[in-house]
Amino acid sequence: MDRFRVAGGARLAGTVSVAGAKNSALKLMASTLLAPGKTTITNLPAIADVDYMAELLTRLGCTVEINKEQGEVSIDVPEKLEHRADYDLVRKMRASINVLGPLITRVGEADVALPGGDAIGSRGLDYHINGLIDMGAVITLEHGFIIAKAPNGLKGAAITLEFPSVGATENIMTAATLASGITTIDNAAREPDVVDLGEFLVSMGAKITGLGTHTIKVEGVKQLKPTKHATLADRIVTGTWAFAAAITQGDITIENGRAEHLEVPLDKLVEAGAVITTTENGFRVKMDKRPIAVDVATLPYPGFPTDLQPLVIALNAIADGTSLVTENVFEARFMFVNELVRLGAKIQVDGHHASITGIKQLSAAPVAATDIRAGAGLVLAALVSDGVTIIEDAFHIDRGYPDFPAQLQALGADITRV
Ligand code: UD1
Repeated sequence: MDRFRVAGGARLAGTVSVAGAKNSALKLMASTLLAPGKTTITNLPAIADVDYMAELLTRLGCTVEINKEQGEVSIDVPEKLEHRADYDLVRKMRASINVLGPLITRVGEADVALPGGDAIGSRGLDYHINGLIDMGAVITLEHGFIIAKAPNGLKGAAITLEFPSVGATENIMTAATLASGITTIDNAAREPDVVDLGEFLVSMGAKITGLGTHTIKVEGVKQLKPTKHATLADRIVTGTWAFAAAITQGDITIENGRAEHLEVPLDKLVEAGAVITTTENGFRVKMDKRPIAVDVATLPYPGFPTDLQPLVIALNAIADGTSLVTENVFEARFMFVNELVRLGAKIQVDGHHASITGIKQLSAAPVAATDIRAGAGLVLAALVSDGVTIIEDAFHIDRGYPDFPAQLQALGADITRV
């Protein structure tokens, strides 16, 4: 198992370049199933989940070619598809659940393993399932699988989500592309990843309006055609670099970073004392003093993203002042706080609130990454601690940050993979 060895005392400075978003790339790949023929996706991040998704699509009958150097995948989708996604892959990669919508609408059946619990909360699927049932699918849960059937195809429906779930919006939107009639999704997720997927579907011939708003409208078409699409830049990786600059009192220029997708987090960094300027192809974050503590509540987009919550807690742990961070999206996302406390952070968790008293310096200690973003938060915290920190279970970090140690080294950090 890989670990990261991180020496404290870094001030990160230089330029980084952001690749395509994990959460967009995997959903785009899953949605190629909607159109027989060869679709190409570019600007792919070099992460293991891309290989897992390729494996899943191969098992469903596709021919998948990944070009790692170019960051490209081409997926040749056959006329006749298999319809089963097994537990071994769904368990590794929750985005596997995104084959449900495309399979049920195109094949008329889908057997998708239930992902089960993970380290950031229960993450239900009831909105996905109820949405598809409203469209006429018959769905049962058997032996750990979602068994969905719609032998005569799906019908458009008016669906209101209880919560603007990213995954449910995506599964219902993809299913609706080939349904008969019009589907409306009210209280839809507005995340840029959902918009990216919607635009991809439109380029395949889908009829979708309202992307990026609360109401998405999909008019079903008979068939979709293959396309070529570049994955949207990863806004969470972009945000991670912005926090990295602020936490280490550094100066980072983030190429391909889209500041307009991070308005709330960047406002928080300015409140914490950072200076943010736009550059030709992204933006620059500079911090010249100890950050000032900031209060944050996570919310669906355009609110503060839950995926950046560990990063703002890491910032507050070494900031001047006390702060309150409220997690409104995933209830169990404070697991990593215990790891940060091992580094000396002063944090009290009460339900979905964490109150943090900033201290001047953290103290190095062995810790373990509990999920992707928590792992990134620990790396940044370790960079401002007083010695050498070993971070176990670094595979979590690799899932979201292609070659994080090399990128950090290029900015002046003392970090190695051991
Ligand atoms: C996606 C991202 C994840 C990100 C999150 C929020 C992927 C693989 N994951 O997760 O990285 O942190 O968006 O931006 O893309 N819920 C239900 N029932 C449902 C669906 C969701 O109760 O059927 C709840 C969840 O438990 C959670 C909330 O709704 O509390 C939001 O979930 P959702 O937006 O669906 O997140 P994911 O798509 O799982």
